[in-house]
Amino acid sequence: MRLLSAAQAWTAVSLLAANLCSLPASAIVLDPNSQDSVRAASKDVAQVLWSMYATTDNQVISGITGLLTYPPYYWWQAGAMFGQLIDYWYYTGDDGYNDMIRDGLIHQAGEKWDFMPANQSKDEGNDDQLFWAFTLMSAAEYNFPNPPDGTPGWLALSQSIWNQLATRWEAATCGGGVRWQIYQWLPGWGYKNLASNGGYFQLSARLALFTGNSTYADRAVEIFDWLQNTSPLVTHDYVVYDGANVEANPSKGDMGNCTKPDTNQWTYNYGIMIGGAAYMYNYTNGSDIWRERLTGFINKTAIFFPEQNNGIMTEPCEGPQNCNGDMVSFKGYLARWYAVSAQIAPFTAPMVMPHLQKSGIAAAQSCVGPSATGVGGSYECGNRWYQNGYDGKSGVGQQLAALSIIAANMAPWSKAPLTSHSGGTSEGDPGLGTGEDEGIPKLDYGVATTGDKAGAAILTIFMTVATVGGAYWLVI
Ligand SMILES: *[C@@H]1O[C@H](CO)[C@@H](O)[C@H](O)[C@H]1NC(C)=O
Ligand SMILES: *[C@@H]1O[C@H](CO)[C@@H](O)[C@H](O)[C@H]1NC(C)=O
Ligand SMILES: *[C@@H]1O[C@H](CO)[C@@H](O)[C@H](O)[C@H]1NC(C)=O
Ligand SMILES: *[C@@H]1O[C@H](CO)[C@@H](O)[C@H](O)[C@H]1NC(C)=O
Ligand SMILES: *[C@@H]1O[C@H](CO)[C@@H](O)[C@H](O)[C@H]1NC(C)=O
Ligand SMILES: *[C@@H]1O[C@H](CO)[C@@H](O)[C@H](O)[C@H]1NC(C)=O
Repeated sequence: MRLLSAAQAWTAVSLLAANLCSLPASAIVLDPNSQDSVRAASKDVAQVLWSMYATTDNQVISGITGLLTYPPYYWWQAGAMFGQLIDYWYYTGDDGYNDMIRDGLIHQAGEKWDFMPANQSKDEGNDDQLFWAFTLMSAAEYNFPNPPDGTPGWLALSQSIWNQLATRWEAATCGGGVRWQIYQWLPGWGYKNLASNGGYFQLSARLALFTGNSTYADRAVEIFDWLQNTSPLVTHDYVVYDGANVEANPSKGDMGNCTKPDTNQWTYNYGIMIGGAAYMYNYTNGSDIWRERLTGFINKTAIFFPEQNNGIMTEPCEGPQNCNGDMVSFKGYLARWYAVSAQIAPFTAPMVMPHLQKSGIAAAQSCVGPSATGVGGSYECGNRWYQNGYDGKSGVGQQLAALSIIAANMAPWSKAPLTSHSGGTSEGDPGLGTGEDEGIPKLDYGVATTGDKAGAAILTIFMTVATVGGAYWLVI
């Protein structure tokens, strides 16, 4: 018999406890070939996700419309959650959360409709803002109920974010790219990451397809070229890395100027690139070049379906169970953009649908965690889908990821995303977000309060610890 290490023994005990606790829950048995089954499973999982945002009588738990409770949940996670709930409505037709989703998006848009709410200046990065943009684009593409008169449309709000990103492109370092952070005082300002640049690429591609305006497509191509040919973030054979440092750090063999990539690979970074490439493939009426890129990225995602985990989608941090609060949601974005790819680049459906089915079943069977407060009969989903039952880790990220991969199984029966030429009604405004105040913030851009400065210092210390392994996380 192999001796268990202390950590393994602890895990075994807590798993046993988790399994015992979860005995009364009956696992969700997903049949991905049945629309009724996919809808029913999605409904259960969505209900638990919603219960982390609002009570059964529609009170927002954090007390602020559009925000999850902080800590532990950051601003971007609420944006990502709303995006998942819009997908849920689109895939299943359940519009029960729509009014409150709409309120949340509008409340967090900020006074200048720029998704730069003053409250978030202590930790808003480009990728955070982009996750809200993805949600706004989904709202446009799925004809989510439009904002009330006098409020810019979902498309206009997305264009605002796109215009802001354009002012943050910085050719003076790394030959281009946007930095991870918007604000210079935040740790991570010195890093150009995939999520921000790939996200800008994807947003450009979606705006191109939705509006038919070639300016957006040209931008998508420019960003892609930078990612693959100038920066080391995307290799010529479509491996996607996390980012690279602007400043040199010779003691770590890093000469700066984005010469040394952080080679961590994450599901969501691939998801972002797959989504962007799929939109460009469709925009270009099925061009060979975008077909090759899209196929290349999908091929490389094989690493997330390791044989020792029965080919079930796995985030690399799950082995040691050291995924942070951001990482636990990442698989959801790979699943989301796999499904989009199956719809708008149908040749990829045979490559991605089997994964969505198999890992969707696995995710569903993990939803036997604690019963969510106030939600009778529904249980929280775990983090490791390849494990039998619940693994003891739940939260917004896990719930979002499970909802994403389960609901994505509706893709074959769902209408593809709309464009302004195929019935999309969202109103645009190509000039929104080009106001004077919205360039790259100067160092005196805002006077940080003492609290914010202290916060930033703590973040810096945390970052130093967290980056010892070489990885920068999406949001701290
Ligand atoms: C900003 O914070 C204040 C105080 O907590 C809150 O009332 C307001 O709704 C917040 N605004 C946004 C857009 O989050
Ligand atoms: C930084 O990288 C860019 C792109 O590779 C290159 O054009 C530029 O010359 C580099 N700058 C320095 C100072 O090495
Ligand atoms: C795609 O095809 C349509 C219809 O033939 C055409 O109007 C459009 O210009 C094409 N798009 C591109 C990017 O070639
Ligand atoms: C583009 O997407 C539509 C669905 O909106 C699909 O019918 C069409 O086949 C796609 N184009 C290509 C070239 O795959
Ligand atoms: C993707 O994988 C398939 C099958 O292994 C291979 O035939 C194809 O060349 C790959 N395509 C790219 C662009 O990497
Ligand atoms: C296309 O988008 C660009 C960038 O926002 C804008 O300047 C231009 O006016 C748009 N063109 C049309 C025809 O809307």
